[in-house]
Amino acid sequence: MIVVTGATGQFGRLVVEALLQRGTPASEIVAAVRTPAKAADLAARGVEVREADYSRPETLVDAFAGADKLLFVSSSGPEADRLAQHRAVVAAAVEARVGQLLYTSLYNATASTLGLARVHRDTETKIAETGLPSVLLRNSWYTENHTGSLADAVERGTVAGSAGEGRIASAARADYAEAAAVVLLSDDQAGKVYELTGDTNWSLAELAAEAAKQSGKEVAFANLPADQYAGILTSVGLPPFLVELIVDSDLRVSEGALSGITSDLSTLLGRPTTPLADTVANTLKN
Ligand SMILES: NC(=O)c1ccc[n+]([C@@H]2O[C@H](COP(=O)([O-])OP(=O)(O)OC[C@H]3O[C@@H](n4cnc5c(N)ncnc54)[C@H](OP(=O)(O)O)[C@@H]3O)[C@@H](O)[C@H]2O)c1
Repeated sequence: MIVVTGATGQFGRLVVEALLQRGTPASEIVAAVRTPAKAADLAARGVEVREADYSRPETLVDAFAGADKLLFVSSSGPEADRLAQHRAVVAAAVEARVGQLLYTSLYNATASTLGLARVHRDTETKIAETGLPSVLLRNSWYTENHTGSLADAVERGTVAGSAGEGRIASAARADYAEAAAVVLLSDDQAGKVYELTGDTNWSLAELAAEAAKQSGKEVAFANLPADQYAGILTSVGLPPFLVELIVDSDLRVSEGALSGITSDLSTLLGRPTTPLADTVANTLKN
């Protein structure tokens, strides 16, 4: 039985979908979610839904019971919360005696300069300490991190950021989710560490150029000082922890933190990763 946490999130949903598409019977999949009511559609398709709230450790052991494989999808929120939540999930995986623990980590987690990497490094260490058979799926950036607000950017004529000429080897969220499903359905995975990136990398200026090309409007990249970019993110209502995370990520990207390219993702997929232009097209047509 395969248990997927965060299965009501965008990534978790795509993993469940990919498992089903690859022929896994719904009865073999458990969606372990914070809010079971949000998974009613999955339950209707025969997927077992269990409550698993990372902030309520008492829900976790039962949620993970019987898992041959547990896909632990990393949490969202402020760093201190995530550290505690992730430690609780790993402890519960041990208590539930899961057969294999797979974790969605961050590209180059061991050496990454991204502030975001701290939680992932801590979690990877805790997982290693358990001695459980484990697999690390170290995901690079989702392209969608930068296309989510692209329609607005096209309206304004400006892609704003602080990443300078830094390059990002992103792939579509669905690429990483499909790869996770492939690994979940493969034998002999214990101990593997996948560094998952897109096949090519791009800069924010190139993203702006692609948006301009596809929209027929003028769109340019404005490379802003960190405090100015933080001000813009704050003005659109993002919480302080997220503003800090996004600005830090851009600054580290400017130094090359996400430029690295591997073939792990396209190898697992058996096809090229989704090009930037395709994700831009998907975004702008909606
Ligand atoms: N590689 C990247 O570029 C990138 C970008 C963004 C995020 N991420 C990481 O990848 C994860 C999945 O991404 P996503 O796009 O699916 O994000 P998402 O749509 O925001 O989903 C986050 C998932 O985490 C769940 N979650 C949050 N707090 C929880 C808690 N206390 N207990 C149980 N579940 C909890 C959410 O549950 P609900 O459905 O109940 O809200 C949701 O299912 C994120 O959580 C984050 O760690 C990676």
